[in-house]
Amino acid sequence: MLEAVDITKRMPLHGRRHGQWFTAVDSASLTLEAGKVVALVGESGSGKSTLARILTLGDEPSAGTIRLAGREVSGRRRADRQAHFGQVQLIMQDPFASLNQLHKVRYILSRPLRNFGVAGDLRQRIIELLERVNLTPGEQYLDKYPHELSGGQWQRVAIARALAAGPAVLIGDEPVSMLDVSIRLDVLRLFADLCAQDGLAMLYITHDIASARYFADEINVIYAARMVEGGPAEEVTQRPRHPYTQLLLESSPDPDRDSERTALPIVDAANESVDREQELAGCPFAARCPHAMPVCTEKPPPRTTFTDGHWSRCWLHEE
Ligand SMILES: Nc1ncnc2c1ncn2[C@@H]1O[C@H](COP(=O)(O)OP(=O)(O)O)[C@@H](O)[C@H]1O
Ligand SMILES: [Mg+2]
Repeated sequence: MLEAVDITKRMPLHGRRHGQWFTAVDSASLTLEAGKVVALVGESGSGKSTLARILTLGDEPSAGTIRLAGREVSGRRRADRQAHFGQVQLIMQDPFASLNQLHKVRYILSRPLRNFGVAGDLRQRIIELLERVNLTPGEQYLDKYPHELSGGQWQRVAIARALAAGPAVLIGDEPVSMLDVSIRLDVLRLFADLCAQDGLAMLYITHDIASARYFADEINVIYAARMVEGGPAEEVTQRPRHPYTQLLLESSPDPDRDSERTALPIVDAANESVDREQELAGCPFAARCPHAMPVCTEKPPPRTTFTDGHWSRCWLHEE
């Protein structure tokens, strides 16, 4: 349905580093298929939201191609943009910030329905959408304002609004990370249903590999702008090949394992002390990798493919 091929995003830096460039995404590729959840996992600053913006044509890549249903699209062509906005919908982290607080649910959902020319009785369609996201009975929510709903209910309204456009692809950028832990699973289950039952394609962006393991079909791991490992979720989480993926799994809570949790230090990539160009000269994880060798800071590791489309980029595989 939606493909990103070798997407790179470079941005000019400001202030003291004026004149230099920062690579936010480095040659990233992804394929989203109908009925499947693909996860993009990485810590803060790794380039996930930048890639999401490019996939939704909210930003232009410096290099690379976006294809929708096999056809190359460009954010510069008006017709492409219009078609894309209907087909690819973004759900963001903060439901309160992403929806207008001044309007009732009824109004928020009627707008995309009108814009995308949905036929039939408007009120009935709104109720159906509300019930599709498990806000039942739908009538009860029509005249609610944001402050009358919980965060979880409000994120469901945001999902209903995304569905109102009749999309083929949903992109959730950390869509449950601001919700109460107790309701995250319910919202993830809703996404899984929308893929399995309604045949949507989904990109689930998260810093939490445990949640990706729980509901994604495929997992891609990104570190400092570069994808380092990818493959079927089961393979990636049971037999992680890249030392970064191994570290992520060791430090994430696992219900089947009760070892002590060791928190990963968070690195702010835009921080002055991190030189992204230097990181990308080799394996970006080299500076934190327990197995780093001299070659790791010198040359980017090639991609090694294992069974079932499981791949990783690490010099350890090249012995
Ligand atoms: N417009 C911008 N100009 C400069 N740097 C940016 C811009 N947007 C994002 N960045 C930087 O790019 C990196 C990747 O950001 P982002 O895609 O938001 O990462 P993530 O979503 O994984 O946390 C971050 O270090 C961020 O500071
Ligand atoms: Mg982000």
